Amino acid sequence: MEQSTRPGTGRLADRYGRVATDLRVSLTDRCNLRCSYCMPPEGLPWLPSPDILTDDEVIRLVGVAVRLLGVTEVRFTGGEPLLRPGLTRIVAAVAGLRPRPVLSLTTNGIGLGRLAPGLRDAGLDRVNVSLDTLDAERFARLAYRRRLAEVLAGLAGAAAAGLTPVKINSVLLRGINDDEAPALLRFALDHGYELRFIEQMPLDAQQAWDRSRMVTAAEILDALTAEFALLPDPAERGGAPAETWLVAGSSGPHGGLARVGVIGTVTRPFCGDCDRTRLTADGQVRDCLFARHESDLRTALRGGADDAELARRWQVAMSGKRAGHGIDDPTFLQPARPMSAIGG
Ligand code: 5AD
Ligand code: SF4
Repeated sequence: MEQSTRPGTGRLADRYGRVATDLRVSLTDRCNLRCSYCMPPEGLPWLPSPDILTDDEVIRLVGVAVRLLGVTEVRFTGGEPLLRPGLTRIVAAVAGLRPRPVLSLTTNGIGLGRLAPGLRDAGLDRVNVSLDTLDAERFARLAYRRRLAEVLAGLAGAAAAGLTPVKINSVLLRGINDDEAPALLRFALDHGYELRFIEQMPLDAQQAWDRSRMVTAAEILDALTAEFALLPDPAERGGAPAETWLVAGSSGPHGGLARVGVIGTVTRPFCGDCDRTRLTADGQVRDCLFARHESDLRTALRGGADDAELARRWQVAMSGKRAGHGIDDPTFLQPARPMSAIGG
């Protein structure tokens, strides 16, 4: 296959005409919560430290993606990325790349209040905070830790530091918080956060996902429209997975209104517009959340490969991306790694 590796000319294209410009970088597989749709209460066998990319290795690979492969957005994820000691340093180095990528972080919010100003100064543009319930008891059932107050403080700290728009990701679980969609939207509207619901995906380590119990995008929209009038959002969707609406009677930055989104990964797949590539904390490229194959960049990196060679390998890794996630295929198998080790 003819692959361009000249600086500035590379792109991460696949056979279906998609080009990945949005890089998700997992900085650790560890987490201080145990959301049941992600991890078992006892945690998981963490990746061995020698396998985890060092800060400089992360910076080098993200640099290859940005300078040689056309990546324009970099999102740091985990596990919980705030647990990575070198996070601020990594953010600063990536913000120094040219062309400067847009930098965001997906976090559970614990500790964000304290870290937000430094991250903002380092060049972080935005955050997405996971918040599934406003009830402390439900939070403890869902995440196996009593830390709701810290998450709420993290949200407030992010907004105060200007990491805006502060977005909230919510996953609804049957029998736990499936009645909470309108309350979460009310909370988001009151605080100026932008809320997005995500359908529960088959990415939990326990492999307990059950499609028939999943709270669907349609169900979430029904619950929201029972209490709010949702108006069509004139914004272009592009590669963004969320279908969005504007909330009548709210106040916000979108023509005076606030926005709400629903990410129907399972029932309304958007694979045809996917523009993502992923790098795990141990230096593996994944072309999809649901991929069962990874491409090892760490070994090449540690073996002395130059930037052009790393870029070429990344391109080969992405060229095999499949057309869709195939969750509905009878042959679908969950990825071997859970979400916490892939990066959201
Ligand atoms: N299904 C849907 N969303 C998930 N997340 C983690 N695991 C799942 C899952 N199985 C969410 C987190 C976070 C983002 C990274 O993805 O709540 O907001
Ligand atoms: Fe931690 Fe995120 Fe997994 Fe929850 S979903 S356990 S916050 S990594």
